[in-house]
Amino acid sequence: MFKRLHFANQSVQTTEPQSGTADDEITFSFNQQVVTARRGDTVATALLLNNIIRFGQRGGIDKGPFCLMGACYECLVQVNGRSQQACMLEAVQDMQVMPLILCNHDADSPATTEHDPDDNSQ
Ligand code: FES
Repeated sequence: MFKRLHFANQSVQTTEPQSGTADDEITFSFNQQVVTARRGDTVATALLLNNIIRFGQRGGIDKGPFCLMGACYECLVQVNGRSQQACMLEAVQDMQVMPLILCNHDADSPATTEHDPDDNSQ
């Protein structure tokens, strides 16, 4: 799906990067599950590399990263009580990340209102 870019010596390595050293490895938690990452990974990259694809929910629908470049906001997670884009946030040792669960409070939304299948007025 994707691979890490390695920025050793200020240049992008174009061959397959070497596996990380122990010094490069960090851990943090997502929903109280330990996640391993390499220094410099974004939270989204680390979660995906740990086979975590559901980053939260909005209106009862699972959400996960889509663009991985800060444009779609599908990757929102909660860090220290604040919602943040996982694809734009560098993972740091011992950070605690939680899924962002948002309810849909829009009264006109079909997600929160009962829909009568026999009512064709909508
Ligand atoms: S994946 Fe689109 S903003 Fe993060």
